[in-house]
Amino acid sequence: MRTIVFATNNRHKLQELRRIAGDSWNILSLEDIGCDDDIPETADTLEGNAIIKARWVKDKYGYDCFADDTGLMVDALGGAPGVYSARYAGPGHDSAANMALLLKNLEGETNRSARFRTVIALAQGSDIRLFEGVVEGEITTVPAGCGGFGYDPVFKPLESSVTFAEMDADAKNAVSHRGRATAALMKYLLNQ
Ligand code: IMP
Repeated sequence: MRTIVFATNNRHKLQELRRIAGDSWNILSLEDIGCDDDIPETADTLEGNAIIKARWVKDKYGYDCFADDTGLMVDALGGAPGVYSARYAGPGHDSAANMALLLKNLEGETNRSARFRTVIALAQGSDIRLFEGVVEGEITTVPAGCGGFGYDPVFKPLESSVTFAEMDADAKNAVSHRGRATAALMKYLLNQ
């Protein structure tokens, strides 16, 4: 089995990714390679942040690596929270606070259209390659479900009658931004 690092310690994401990769790739986390660096995510685009993280691991630890960056873009908020989705309610705030602020900012708003977009940067040797996945949907008026993470309880994909947090992992992976970006990445890796 070939080995590659996924530049994350988010166990939800690792679980999702390992599920999609099956037994074709051994996917290591940052913790698995002994990296507890505070990798700067200072770019103002998803592409920029994904590239910074993937190159950091490749350059410092020598492993081929991929890194993702995701944003939730809400039309009525001019594309916010976008690249700042993780810290929408401010530094040190959690998903519950981010969701509460999002619902507050959309109070009384009828246009609830939104999309998740994931960009994955793959660093192999001196090569960098980008993959992306998008899922269109809408922000619900109240949270529903307790699966997944982040904004899952308030995001309902267009092709579904329930939120991401009400789906099981396979159902979410089949339509999600990260599922689609990962499918593109895995297609590329499996053809090598
Ligand atoms: P990251 O770049 O994957 O860390 O994503 C940034 C932020 O977007 C996270 O902190 C979450 O709040 C949110 N996010 C990313 N992926 C998902 C998802 O699949 N469901 C819900 N929220 C997500």
